[in-house]
Amino acid sequence: MISVALDGPAGAGKSTIAKEAARRLGFLHVDTGALYRAIGLDVLRRGEDPADPAQVLPRLEETGITLRFTAQGQRIFLRGEDVSEAIREPRASMAASSVSAMPEVRRFLLELQRDLARKNDVIMDGRDIGTVVLPGADVKIFLTAAPEARAMRRYKELVEKGTQADYDTVLREVKERDYNDSHRAAAPLRQAEDAWLCDTTELTLEGSIQAVVDHVRERTQR
Ligand code: DC
Repeated sequence: MISVALDGPAGAGKSTIAKEAARRLGFLHVDTGALYRAIGLDVLRRGEDPADPAQVLPRLEETGITLRFTAQGQRIFLRGEDVSEAIREPRASMAASSVSAMPEVRRFLLELQRDLARKNDVIMDGRDIGTVVLPGADVKIFLTAAPEARAMRRYKELVEKGTQADYDTVLREVKERDYNDSHRAAAPLRQAEDAWLCDTTELTLEGSIQAVVDHVRERTQR
């Protein structure tokens, strides 16, 4: 089995790029952010506080997360209910960010992620895949882009959806999230020493996908 670890900051286009690159390579795309989002959503639905370990940790075992892989991509379930859309709500992003800072939550999700990589050719995207989850991955990629470019992409996305947005505010939030992600104690975001740095600041989406596919092919002879 071949594993590709794809890490990087929020807004670098990881999931979009990983999904399409995986399709072209015939690999499974595993979006690990969805796992943290599902745990966060479950806590919110119970009416509890995702930032309080005492309310999050005792119920972890009951979360009942399952993943299914379809031709359209990964679907995620909470005790049998498909929550693939619900986990994209802004409140689930916030909750995911809180629960992902807890080492016990990270440990709880570790085996599930490793098991997928043992059984399938995967492109796994996240923050700590190359450093913690799959330190022995065949290919490691750290995907990034300048904060200004990531903020501009996010800003355009919001405007296209008809959401009121202000570029300076979006940029400030991007920088804040970068700081939080890279300074937390549990599995902070950092480039693995043996990861290839792919900076998409000057690349189009298609250019980024192709760069990732080419790199994986070069490294794995696929
Ligand atoms: O990539 P995303 O926005 O879906 O991630 C949601 C949250 O989960 C984000 O705060 C970062 C965190 N996360 C993490 O800590 N480790 C991962 N492997 C994936 C996501």
